[in-house]
Amino acid sequence: MERRQFTQLSGAALAGSLLANNALADTLAPKKQRVAMVGTGHRGLGMWGMPVLAEFGSQLEFVGLCDINPGRVATGKKMLGVSCPTYTDFDKMMKETKPDILIVTTVDATHNEFIVKGMEYGADIVTEKPMTTDEKKCQQILDAEKRTGRKVKVTFNYRYSPHRQKLYELLRSGVIGKVEAADFHWYLDVYHGADYFRRWHRLRQNSGSLLVHKATHHFDLMNWWLESDPQEVFAYGSLDFYGKNNDFRSTNCRPCPHKDKCKFYFDMTKDKRLMALYADNEKYDGYLRDGCVWKEDIDIFDKMAVQIKYANNVQVSYSLTTHSPYEGYRIAFNGTKGRLEAWIKERQPWEEEAFDEIQLTTNFGKREIIRIPNNEEGHGGGDVRLRKQIFAGDGKDPWRQAAGTRDGAMACLVGIAARHSIDSGKPVKIGDLTSLKPSGTRGV
Ligand SMILES: NC(=O)c1ccc[n+]([C@@H]2O[C@H](COP(=O)([O-])OP(=O)(O)OC[C@H]3O[C@@H](n4cnc5c(N)ncnc54)[C@H](O)[C@@H]3O)[C@@H](O)[C@H]2O)c1
Repeated sequence: MERRQFTQLSGAALAGSLLANNALADTLAPKKQRVAMVGTGHRGLGMWGMPVLAEFGSQLEFVGLCDINPGRVATGKKMLGVSCPTYTDFDKMMKETKPDILIVTTVDATHNEFIVKGMEYGADIVTEKPMTTDEKKCQQILDAEKRTGRKVKVTFNYRYSPHRQKLYELLRSGVIGKVEAADFHWYLDVYHGADYFRRWHRLRQNSGSLLVHKATHHFDLMNWWLESDPQEVFAYGSLDFYGKNNDFRSTNCRPCPHKDKCKFYFDMTKDKRLMALYADNEKYDGYLRDGCVWKEDIDIFDKMAVQIKYANNVQVSYSLTTHSPYEGYRIAFNGTKGRLEAWIKERQPWEEEAFDEIQLTTNFGKREIIRIPNNEEGHGGGDVRLRKQIFAGDGKDPWRQAAGTRDGAMACLVGIAARHSIDSGKPVKIGDLTSLKPSGTRGV
Protein backbone atom coordinates (compact mmCIF):
# COMPACT_ATOMS: atom_id res chain seq x y z
CA MET A 1 0.00 0.00 0.00
CA GLU A 2 1.31 3.44 -0.93
CA ARG A 3 2.05 5.76 1.93
CA ARG A 4 -0.49 8.37 0.70
CA GLN A 5 -3.21 5.74 0.44
CA PHE A 6 -2.38 4.46 3.93
CA THR A 7 -2.53 7.98 5.37
CA GLN A 8 -5.90 8.54 3.68
CA LEU A 9 -7.23 5.23 4.96
CA SER A 10 -5.92 5.62 8.48
CA GLY A 11 -7.17 9.25 8.49
CA ALA A 12 -10.62 8.05 7.54
CA ALA A 13 -10.48 5.28 10.15
CA LEU A 14 -9.32 7.79 12.76
CA ALA A 15 -12.10 10.22 11.83
CA GLY A 16 -14.57 7.33 11.98
CA SER A 17 -13.40 6.23 15.36
CA LEU A 18 -13.40 9.86 16.60
CA LEU A 19 -16.96 10.26 15.36
CA ALA A 20 -17.94 7.01 17.05
CA ASN A 21 -16.24 8.17 20.24
CA ASN A 22 -17.98 11.54 20.06
CA ALA A 23 -21.31 9.85 19.49
CA LEU A 24 -20.55 7.56 22.43
CA ALA A 25 -19.52 10.55 24.56
CA ASP A 26 -22.77 12.30 23.59
CA THR A 27 -24.77 9.26 24.62
CA LEU A 28 -22.85 8.84 27.87
CA ALA A 29 -22.79 12.55 28.78
CA PRO A 30 -25.64 13.48 31.09
CA LYS A 31 -28.31 15.24 29.01
CA LYS A 32 -28.55 18.94 29.69
CA GLN A 33 -31.82 20.04 31.24
CA ARG A 34 -33.87 22.11 28.82
CA VAL A 35 -34.97 25.33 30.49
CA ALA A 36 -37.37 28.00 29.21
CA MET A 37 -38.29 31.32 30.83
CA VAL A 38 -41.41 33.44 30.56
CA GLY A 39 -40.99 37.04 31.78
CA THR A 40 -37.52 38.35 30.92
CA GLY A 41 -37.55 41.35 33.24
CA HIS A 42 -35.39 42.36 36.16
CA ARG A 43 -35.94 39.26 38.30
CA GLY A 44 -36.01 36.74 35.48
CA LEU A 45 -32.64 37.82 34.14
CA GLY A 46 -30.98 38.86 37.40
CA MET A 47 -31.92 35.90 39.60
CA TRP A 48 -32.78 33.06 37.20
CA GLY A 49 -30.90 34.02 34.03
CA MET A 50 -27.33 35.22 34.43
CA PRO A 51 -26.53 33.49 37.76
CA VAL A 52 -28.13 30.18 36.75
CA LEU A 53 -26.05 30.10 33.57
CA ALA A 54 -22.89 31.00 35.51
CA GLU A 55 -23.51 28.45 38.25
CA PHE A 56 -25.12 25.55 36.35
CA GLY A 57 -24.37 26.24 32.66
CA SER A 58 -22.69 22.85 32.25
CA GLN A 59 -25.82 20.93 33.18
CA LEU A 60 -28.63 23.00 31.68
CA GLU A 61 -29.35 25.13 28.64
CA PHE A 62 -31.87 27.83 27.86
CA VAL A 63 -34.01 26.61 24.95
CA GLY A 64 -36.49 29.51 24.80
CA LEU A 65 -37.20 32.95 26.23
CA CYS A 66 -40.65 34.54 26.14
CA ASP A 67 -41.98 37.97 27.05
CA ILE A 68 -45.03 39.92 25.99
CA ASN A 69 -42.65 42.79 25.14
CA PRO A 70 -40.63 41.88 22.00
CA GLY A 71 -37.96 44.47 22.74
CA ARG A 72 -37.41 43.25 26.31
CA VAL A 73 -37.10 39.60 25.29
CA ALA A 74 -34.52 40.56 22.62
CA THR A 75 -32.59 42.64 25.18
CA GLY A 76 -32.82 39.77 27.65
CA LYS A 77 -31.34 37.35 25.14
CA LYS A 78 -28.44 39.73 24.53
CA MET A 79 -27.84 40.22 28.24
CA LEU A 80 -27.81 36.45 28.82
CA GLY A 81 -25.57 35.82 25.81
CA VAL A 82 -27.61 32.78 24.77
CA SER A 83 -28.47 31.59 21.26
CA CYS A 84 -31.95 30.14 21.87
CA PRO A 85 -35.02 31.49 20.05
CA THR A 86 -37.17 34.24 21.59
CA TYR A 87 -40.96 34.40 21.56
CA THR A 88 -43.86 36.69 22.36
CA ASP A 89 -46.27 33.73 21.95
CA PHE A 90 -46.00 31.44 24.98
CA ASP A 91 -47.82 28.46 23.40
CA LYS A 92 -45.54 28.60 20.37
CA MET A 93 -42.48 28.53 22.64
CA MET A 94 -43.74 25.55 24.62
CA LYS A 95 -44.70 23.58 21.47
CA GLU A 96 -41.43 24.26 19.68
CA THR A 97 -38.95 23.99 22.53
CA LYS A 98 -40.50 21.35 24.83
CA PRO A 99 -38.62 22.41 27.97
CA ASP A 100 -38.12 20.17 31.01
CA ILE A 101 -38.31 23.20 33.29
CA LEU A 102 -40.26 26.43 32.85
CA ILE A 103 -39.22 29.45 34.92
CA VAL A 104 -42.14 31.83 35.53
CA THR A 105 -41.06 35.42 36.24
CA THR A 106 -43.89 37.49 34.79
CA VAL A 107 -46.18 40.01 36.50
CA ASP A 108 -47.78 38.27 39.52
CA ALA A 109 -51.38 38.15 38.27
CA THR A 110 -50.29 36.20 35.17
CA HIS A 111 -48.31 33.44 36.96
CA ASN A 112 -51.30 31.05 37.08
CA GLU A 113 -51.71 31.08 33.29
CA PHE A 114 -48.09 30.02 32.68
CA ILE A 115 -47.86 27.61 35.62
CA VAL A 116 -51.00 25.76 34.51
CA LYS A 117 -50.23 25.74 30.78
CA GLY A 118 -46.57 24.97 31.44
CA MET A 119 -47.51 21.79 33.30
CA GLU A 120 -50.02 20.87 30.62
CA TYR A 121 -47.18 21.08 28.09
CA GLY A 122 -45.21 18.64 30.26
CA ALA A 123 -42.78 20.93 32.10
CA ASP A 124 -41.99 21.17 35.78
CA ILE A 125 -42.30 24.72 37.05
CA VAL A 126 -40.04 27.05 38.99
CA THR A 127 -42.15 30.10 39.82
CA GLU A 128 -41.41 33.35 41.54
CA LYS A 129 -43.52 34.39 44.48
CA PRO A 130 -46.34 35.15 44.97
CA MET A 131 -47.59 31.88 43.51
CA THR A 132 -50.69 33.79 42.43
CA THR A 133 -52.97 36.69 43.34
CA ASP A 134 -56.47 35.33 44.02
CA GLU A 135 -58.12 32.18 45.33
CA LYS A 136 -59.59 31.06 41.97
CA LYS A 137 -56.19 31.14 40.28
CA CYS A 138 -54.75 29.36 43.29
CA GLN A 139 -57.26 26.54 42.91
CA GLN A 140 -56.48 26.28 39.17
CA ILE A 141 -52.81 25.70 40.02
CA LEU A 142 -53.56 23.09 42.70
CA ASP A 143 -55.89 21.24 40.31
CA ALA A 144 -53.45 21.38 37.39
CA GLU A 145 -50.61 19.96 39.47
CA LYS A 146 -52.79 16.98 40.47
CA ARG A 147 -54.12 16.51 36.95
CA THR A 148 -50.78 16.64 35.14
CA GLY A 149 -48.52 14.97 37.71
CA ARG A 150 -45.91 17.70 37.13
CA LYS A 151 -44.29 19.63 40.00
CA VAL A 152 -44.24 23.30 40.95
CA LYS A 153 -41.46 24.86 43.04
CA VAL A 154 -42.22 28.24 44.59
CA THR A 155 -39.01 30.15 45.18
CA PHE A 156 -39.26 31.62 48.67
CA ASN A 157 -35.70 32.96 48.80
CA TYR A 158 -36.33 34.71 52.15
CA ARG A 159 -36.29 31.32 53.89
CA TYR A 160 -32.63 30.81 52.97
CA SER A 161 -30.90 33.74 54.71
CA PRO A 162 -28.73 32.73 57.68
CA HIS A 163 -30.52 34.59 60.47
CA ARG A 164 -33.92 33.29 59.37
CA GLN A 165 -32.52 29.75 59.30
CA LYS A 166 -31.17 30.38 62.79
CA LEU A 167 -34.61 31.51 64.01
CA TYR A 168 -36.09 28.35 62.50
CA GLU A 169 -33.49 26.24 64.36
CA LEU A 170 -34.04 28.04 67.67
CA LEU A 171 -37.82 27.67 67.40
CA ARG A 172 -37.49 23.95 66.62
CA SER A 173 -35.03 23.48 69.52
CA GLY A 174 -37.74 24.34 72.04
CA VAL A 175 -35.68 26.98 73.93
CA ILE A 176 -38.72 29.21 74.29
CA GLY A 177 -41.13 26.32 74.77
CA LYS A 178 -44.37 26.22 72.82
CA VAL A 179 -44.88 29.38 70.77
CA GLU A 180 -48.09 31.16 71.75
CA ALA A 181 -47.97 34.44 69.83
CA ALA A 182 -45.80 36.47 67.49
CA ASP A 183 -45.38 40.13 66.52
CA PHE A 184 -44.11 40.81 63.00
CA HIS A 185 -43.68 44.33 61.63
CA TRP A 186 -42.09 45.02 58.27
CA TYR A 187 -40.82 48.43 57.21
CA LEU A 188 -40.29 49.24 53.53
CA ASP A 189 -38.33 52.45 53.17
CA VAL A 190 -38.84 55.60 51.10
CA TYR A 191 -36.68 54.09 48.29
CA HIS A 192 -37.70 50.45 47.99
CA GLY A 193 -41.21 50.99 49.39
CA ALA A 194 -41.84 53.90 47.04
CA ASP A 195 -40.69 51.84 44.05
CA TYR A 196 -43.77 49.60 44.33
CA PHE A 197 -45.94 52.68 43.76
CA ARG A 198 -44.00 53.57 40.59
CA ARG A 199 -44.30 50.20 38.88
CA TRP A 200 -47.01 47.71 37.81
CA HIS A 201 -47.35 46.70 41.45
CA ARG A 202 -49.37 49.88 42.12
CA LEU A 203 -52.49 48.21 40.67
CA ARG A 204 -54.29 45.39 42.46
CA GLN A 205 -55.09 43.77 39.12
CA ASN A 206 -51.34 43.14 38.64
CA SER A 207 -49.98 42.47 42.12
CA GLY A 208 -53.02 41.62 44.22
CA SER A 209 -51.79 44.51 46.46
CA LEU A 210 -48.64 44.45 48.60
CA LEU A 211 -50.46 42.12 51.00
CA VAL A 212 -49.97 39.52 48.26
CA HIS A 213 -46.99 40.73 46.24
CA LYS A 214 -44.71 41.63 49.13
CA ALA A 215 -46.26 40.16 52.27
CA THR A 216 -46.40 36.68 50.69
CA HIS A 217 -42.70 36.48 51.67
CA HIS A 218 -43.53 37.46 55.25
CA PHE A 219 -46.57 35.20 55.60
CA ASP A 220 -44.55 32.34 54.15
CA LEU A 221 -41.79 32.93 56.72
CA MET A 222 -44.36 32.91 59.51
CA ASN A 223 -46.04 29.70 58.24
CA TRP A 224 -42.58 28.09 57.96
CA TRP A 225 -41.29 29.28 61.33
CA LEU A 226 -44.48 28.22 63.12
CA GLU A 227 -44.82 24.93 61.19
CA SER A 228 -48.54 25.57 60.98
CA ASP A 229 -51.06 26.69 58.39
CA PRO A 230 -52.93 29.95 58.93
CA GLN A 231 -56.61 29.56 59.76
CA GLU A 232 -58.33 32.94 60.02
CA VAL A 233 -57.41 36.50 59.05
CA PHE A 234 -58.71 39.96 59.88
CA ALA A 235 -57.15 43.13 58.45
CA TYR A 236 -57.22 46.89 58.02
CA GLY A 237 -55.58 48.71 55.13
CA SER A 238 -55.61 52.15 53.59
CA LEU A 239 -53.87 54.37 51.02
CA ASP A 240 -53.05 57.54 52.93
CA PHE A 241 -49.58 58.57 51.71
CA TYR A 242 -48.91 57.76 48.02
CA GLY A 243 -51.28 58.09 45.07
CA LYS A 244 -53.91 60.79 45.29
CA ASN A 245 -52.48 62.05 48.63
CA ASN A 246 -50.33 64.80 47.13
CA ASP A 247 -51.08 68.10 45.45
CA PHE A 248 -48.88 67.62 42.36
CA ARG A 249 -48.18 64.70 40.07
CA SER A 250 -46.98 63.68 36.60
CA THR A 251 -47.03 60.58 34.42
CA ASN A 252 -43.45 59.59 35.23
CA CYS A 253 -40.19 61.06 36.50
CA ARG A 254 -38.20 61.66 33.31
CA PRO A 255 -40.42 64.45 31.87
CA CYS A 256 -41.73 65.63 35.28
CA PRO A 257 -41.99 69.43 35.81
CA HIS A 258 -41.84 68.90 39.62
CA LYS A 259 -38.42 67.17 39.71
CA ASP A 260 -36.83 69.84 41.89
CA LYS A 261 -39.39 69.74 44.67
CA CYS A 262 -40.39 66.05 44.62
CA LYS A 263 -38.52 63.98 47.25
CA PHE A 264 -39.55 60.86 45.32
CA TYR A 265 -37.99 61.93 42.02
CA PHE A 266 -36.23 58.87 40.62
CA ASP A 267 -33.64 59.36 37.89
CA MET A 268 -33.60 56.06 36.01
CA THR A 269 -31.39 57.54 33.27
CA LYS A 270 -28.43 56.92 35.60
CA ASP A 271 -29.02 53.17 35.45
CA LYS A 272 -27.94 51.69 32.10
CA ARG A 273 -29.57 48.33 32.78
CA LEU A 274 -32.97 49.84 33.63
CA MET A 275 -32.77 52.07 30.55
CA ALA A 276 -31.97 49.10 28.29
CA LEU A 277 -34.67 46.84 29.77
CA TYR A 278 -37.50 49.33 30.17
CA ALA A 279 -37.03 52.83 28.69
CA ASP A 280 -35.77 51.47 25.35
CA ASN A 281 -38.82 49.16 25.12
CA GLU A 282 -41.58 51.56 26.18
CA LYS A 283 -42.57 51.89 22.53
CA TYR A 284 -43.91 48.32 22.57
CA ASP A 285 -46.18 48.39 25.63
CA GLY A 286 -46.14 51.92 27.09
CA TYR A 287 -44.89 50.59 30.44
CA LEU A 288 -43.16 53.34 32.46
CA ARG A 289 -40.61 51.96 34.93
CA ASP A 290 -40.30 55.40 36.59
CA GLY A 291 -44.05 56.01 37.01
CA CYS A 292 -45.18 58.80 39.35
CA VAL A 293 -45.79 57.66 42.95
CA TRP A 294 -48.60 60.22 43.16
CA LYS A 295 -50.62 58.77 40.24
CA GLU A 296 -54.34 58.80 40.97
CA ASP A 297 -54.91 55.30 39.60
CA ILE A 298 -52.91 53.69 42.45
CA ASP A 299 -55.34 51.34 44.19
CA ILE A 300 -53.15 49.30 46.58
CA PHE A 301 -52.79 50.05 50.30
CA ASP A 302 -49.73 51.82 51.73
CA LYS A 303 -50.38 50.82 55.35
CA MET A 304 -51.66 47.43 56.41
CA ALA A 305 -52.38 45.73 59.72
CA VAL A 306 -53.26 42.04 59.82
CA GLN A 307 -54.26 39.66 62.60
CA ILE A 308 -53.75 35.96 61.87
CA LYS A 309 -54.93 33.02 63.91
CA TYR A 310 -53.00 29.85 63.12
CA ALA A 311 -54.36 26.30 63.08
CA ASN A 312 -52.03 25.50 66.04
CA ASN A 313 -53.62 28.42 67.94
CA VAL A 314 -50.66 30.82 67.62
CA GLN A 315 -51.83 34.44 67.25
CA VAL A 316 -49.85 36.77 65.00
CA SER A 317 -49.95 40.58 64.75
CA TYR A 318 -48.46 41.73 61.44
CA SER A 319 -48.07 45.16 59.87
CA LEU A 320 -46.52 46.54 56.69
CA THR A 321 -45.31 50.13 56.32
CA THR A 322 -44.25 51.50 52.93
CA HIS A 323 -42.55 54.86 53.57
CA SER A 324 -40.22 54.22 56.47
CA PRO A 325 -36.86 56.07 56.83
CA TYR A 326 -35.11 52.69 57.00
CA GLU A 327 -35.80 49.22 55.66
CA GLY A 328 -36.08 46.14 57.84
CA TYR A 329 -38.31 44.39 60.34
CA ARG A 330 -38.95 43.53 63.93
CA ILE A 331 -40.06 40.09 64.94
CA ALA A 332 -40.79 38.50 68.29
CA PHE A 333 -41.98 35.04 69.26
CA ASN A 334 -43.54 34.67 72.71
CA GLY A 335 -43.29 31.11 74.01
CA THR A 336 -44.23 29.32 77.22
CA LYS A 337 -40.57 29.39 78.34
CA GLY A 338 -39.30 32.67 76.92
CA ARG A 339 -39.07 35.14 74.06
CA LEU A 340 -37.07 35.20 70.86
CA GLU A 341 -36.74 38.49 69.03
CA ALA A 342 -34.84 40.30 66.31
CA TRP A 343 -34.64 43.80 64.86
CA ILE A 344 -33.18 43.43 61.39
CA LYS A 345 -32.04 46.51 59.50
CA GLU A 346 -31.69 45.73 55.79
CA ARG A 347 -30.91 49.30 54.72
CA GLN A 348 -30.42 52.27 57.00
CA PRO A 349 -29.18 55.86 56.94
CA TRP A 350 -26.67 55.09 59.72
CA GLU A 351 -23.61 52.83 59.82
CA GLU A 352 -24.17 49.27 58.56
CA GLU A 353 -23.49 46.36 60.89
CA ALA A 354 -21.82 43.20 59.55
CA PHE A 355 -24.10 40.95 61.56
CA ASP A 356 -27.73 40.46 62.53
CA GLU A 357 -28.69 39.95 66.14
CA ILE A 358 -31.21 37.59 67.68
CA GLN A 359 -32.10 38.12 71.33
CA LEU A 360 -33.13 35.09 73.35
CA THR A 361 -34.58 35.70 76.82
CA THR A 362 -35.80 32.84 78.97
CA ASN A 363 -38.53 33.28 81.59
CA PHE A 364 -36.98 33.92 85.06
CA GLY A 365 -33.65 33.49 83.27
CA LYS A 366 -31.09 35.44 81.28
CA ARG A 367 -30.73 37.30 78.02
CA GLU A 368 -28.46 35.91 75.33
CA ILE A 369 -27.46 37.77 72.15
CA ILE A 370 -26.76 35.61 69.10
CA ARG A 371 -24.87 37.30 66.26
CA ILE A 372 -25.10 36.02 62.70
CA PRO A 373 -22.86 37.48 59.94
CA ASN A 374 -24.90 39.16 57.20
CA ASN A 375 -22.20 40.01 54.67
CA GLU A 376 -23.00 37.41 51.96
CA GLU A 377 -24.36 38.84 48.68
CA GLY A 378 -27.99 38.28 47.57
CA HIS A 379 -30.28 38.08 50.61
CA GLY A 380 -27.46 36.95 52.91
CA GLY A 381 -26.35 34.24 50.49
CA GLY A 382 -29.93 32.91 50.39
CA ASP A 383 -30.32 33.38 46.63
CA VAL A 384 -27.28 31.19 45.86
CA ARG A 385 -28.43 28.46 48.26
CA LEU A 386 -31.93 28.49 46.77
CA ARG A 387 -30.60 28.16 43.20
CA LYS A 388 -28.32 25.32 44.25
CA GLN A 389 -31.18 23.45 45.89
CA ILE A 390 -33.34 23.86 42.77
CA PHE A 391 -30.80 23.01 40.09
CA ALA A 392 -28.24 20.85 41.89
CA GLY A 393 -29.98 19.70 45.05
CA ASP A 394 -29.03 16.38 46.65
CA GLY A 395 -32.52 15.99 48.09
CA LYS A 396 -31.39 17.06 51.56
CA ASP A 397 -33.43 19.88 53.09
CA PRO A 398 -32.52 20.18 56.79
CA TRP A 399 -34.41 23.45 57.32
CA ARG A 400 -37.42 22.36 55.20
CA GLN A 401 -36.85 25.34 52.90
CA ALA A 402 -38.05 23.82 49.62
CA ALA A 403 -41.59 24.98 48.90
CA GLY A 404 -44.29 23.53 46.66
CA THR A 405 -47.85 24.54 45.84
CA ARG A 406 -49.23 23.98 49.33
CA ASP A 407 -46.72 26.40 50.86
CA GLY A 408 -47.10 28.77 47.91
CA ALA A 409 -50.88 28.72 48.38
CA MET A 410 -50.84 29.15 52.16
CA ALA A 411 -48.56 32.18 51.84
CA CYS A 412 -50.56 34.03 49.19
CA LEU A 413 -53.90 33.05 50.72
CA VAL A 414 -53.11 35.02 53.90
CA GLY A 415 -52.65 38.16 51.79
CA ILE A 416 -55.71 37.38 49.66
CA ALA A 417 -57.78 36.81 52.83
CA ALA A 418 -56.45 40.08 54.31
CA ARG A 419 -57.44 41.96 51.15
CA HIS A 420 -60.95 40.46 51.28
CA SER A 421 -61.18 41.29 54.98
CA ILE A 422 -60.26 44.94 54.34
CA ASP A 423 -62.88 45.14 51.58
CA SER A 424 -65.63 43.43 53.57
CA GLY A 425 -64.79 44.48 57.15
CA LYS A 426 -65.10 40.82 58.18
CA PRO A 427 -62.72 38.03 59.20
CA VAL A 428 -61.93 35.48 56.46
CA LYS A 429 -61.32 31.77 56.96
CA ILE A 430 -58.45 30.33 54.89
CA GLY A 431 -60.33 27.02 54.56
CA ASP A 432 -63.18 28.81 52.75
CA LEU A 433 -60.93 30.02 49.91
CA THR A 434 -59.70 26.81 48.23
CA SER A 435 -59.86 23.04 48.67
CA LEU A 436 -56.86 23.20 51.08
CA LYS A 437 -57.79 22.73 54.71
CA PRO A 438 -55.46 24.30 57.30
CA SER A 439 -53.36 21.91 59.37
CA GLY A 440 -51.74 22.75 62.70
CA THR A 441 -48.71 20.52 62.12
CA ARG A 442 -47.95 20.62 58.40
CA GLY A 443 -46.84 17.04 58.69
CA VAL A 444 -44.07 17.65 61.26
N1 LIG B 1 -38.27 36.72 45.31
C1 LIG B 1 -37.94 37.97 45.22
O1 LIG B 1 -37.25 38.49 46.10
C2 LIG B 1 -38.43 38.78 44.04
C3 LIG B 1 -37.85 40.01 43.74
C4 LIG B 1 -38.33 40.72 42.64
C5 LIG B 1 -39.37 40.22 41.86
N2 LIG B 1 -39.91 39.02 42.18
C6 LIG B 1 -41.01 38.45 41.37
O2 LIG B 1 -40.53 38.24 40.05
C7 LIG B 1 -41.58 38.47 39.08
C8 LIG B 1 -41.10 39.48 38.04
O3 LIG B 1 -40.85 40.73 38.68
P1 LIG B 1 -39.85 41.81 38.06
O4 LIG B 1 -39.46 42.71 39.15
O5 LIG B 1 -38.81 41.11 37.26
O6 LIG B 1 -40.84 42.60 37.08
P2 LIG B 1 -40.51 43.13 35.61
O7 LIG B 1 -41.57 44.08 35.28
O8 LIG B 1 -39.10 43.57 35.53
O9 LIG B 1 -40.62 41.81 34.73
C9 LIG B 1 -41.83 41.18 34.42
C10 LIG B 1 -41.78 40.79 32.96
O10 LIG B 1 -42.94 40.02 32.65
C11 LIG B 1 -43.38 40.44 31.36
N3 LIG B 1 -44.80 40.10 31.22
C12 LIG B 1 -45.86 40.66 31.82
N4 LIG B 1 -46.99 40.06 31.46
C13 LIG B 1 -46.65 39.08 30.61
C14 LIG B 1 -47.38 38.11 29.86
N5 LIG B 1 -48.71 38.04 29.94
N6 LIG B 1 -46.70 37.26 29.07
C15 LIG B 1 -45.35 37.32 28.99
N7 LIG B 1 -44.60 38.22 29.66
C16 LIG B 1 -45.25 39.09 30.44
C17 LIG B 1 -43.10 41.93 31.33
O11 LIG B 1 -43.07 42.45 30.02
C18 LIG B 1 -41.75 41.99 32.03
O12 LIG B 1 -40.68 41.88 31.13
C19 LIG B 1 -42.79 38.93 39.87
O13 LIG B 1 -43.65 37.85 40.10
C20 LIG B 1 -42.21 39.39 41.19
O14 LIG B 1 -43.12 39.24 42.26
C21 LIG B 1 -39.45 38.29 43.23
